[in-house]
Amino acid sequence: MLRLTPAQKKHYGRQTGLSLPSSLTLPLAQLKLLSSVATEAGSESLPVSRSAVRQLLEPEPSGGQGGGPFAVEVALTPAQQEQIGRATGDVFASLRIVPDDVTVTYHEAWDEATPVRVGRTMVIKPAGEPHEASDADLVVELPAGDGSGRGVFGTGRHPATQLSLVLLEGHVRPGDRVLDLGTGSGILAVAAARFGAGEVLALDIDAAAVAVARETVSLNGLAGVVEVARGGVGSAVPPYDVVAANVFPNVLIELAPDLAAAVRSGGALVTSGSVAARAEGAADAVCAAGLGLKERRSQGDWVGMVFRKP
Ligand SMILES: C[S@@+](CC[C@H](N)C(=O)[O-])C[C@H]1O[C@@H](n2cnc3c(N)ncnc32)[C@H](O)[C@@H]1O
Repeated sequence: MLRLTPAQKKHYGRQTGLSLPSSLTLPLAQLKLLSSVATEAGSESLPVSRSAVRQLLEPEPSGGQGGGPFAVEVALTPAQQEQIGRATGDVFASLRIVPDDVTVTYHEAWDEATPVRVGRTMVIKPAGEPHEASDADLVVELPAGDGSGRGVFGTGRHPATQLSLVLLEGHVRPGDRVLDLGTGSGILAVAAARFGAGEVLALDIDAAAVAVARETVSLNGLAGVVEVARGGVGSAVPPYDVVAANVFPNVLIELAPDLAAAVRSGGALVTSGSVAARAEGAADAVCAAGLGLKERRSQGDWVGMVFRKP
């Protein structure tokens, strides 16, 4: 078992937007096999999975960063190099990890219950919490967490959520039909309704997210405008004026053709779940599905993008 340092986890998080576990466990036989493949391939980087081996042996000519060829190299500390050297007889400078090998979890801490101001007009606040509102403020109330400190994604504090909120503020028009794919807490769906959308469908494959999103919609008195359902993009009823999808890039790349098909001609796709290192690959996939990149914004390591359908 290899314990990962905070610096290694931070590097990986910056490259992928995902969290690495605190340690990696590789059975000895597998470690030896991976090590022999890597040395034969002349690599100084030890792959930790079959997918990373495949990418090592069959790199894409473009060196693209999309779903397939993207791998993250994490430098090994001298102690880790020695540990692997003792087990395999080979010396490696880094680990090679493919983001798709790491289990993706969409969770956020729900313990900082303070109002957050986002964009020009949006205020996200826990239900019942007082705040100084101006007439122009559009308020989204969120339910209290379940007390565990952890909850579904969408407290309004994550840069990816804030990017989507700001981009929706600029692109939702009164009366629009909006799809929020991967609604989490329901925050973007309710925000879209506050920005004037006439009809919003909020979908999520996670049952816990659907339950929280329903609570959010009811807290905000929007049951007549926002419908929440469990499901993926196949449950949508296109066409939509605006589709919002704050999902990680591997999901965006896989769903790009379906999301593009769900947008009406002249409509917009708003996305925000990619860190900078993966945004280009995600954008390429959406453009390959027939949409054009119209706007790109960053907040910290995160990137939000708006695509238009011709
Ligand atoms: C990063 S969270 C976004 C939550 C919220 N929309 C926000 O902006 O804060 C992504 C959500 O997408 C959901 N999700 C992931 N893959 C999905 C898919 N293929 N179809 C529908 N929802 C999906 C996850 O369960 C998660 O709740």
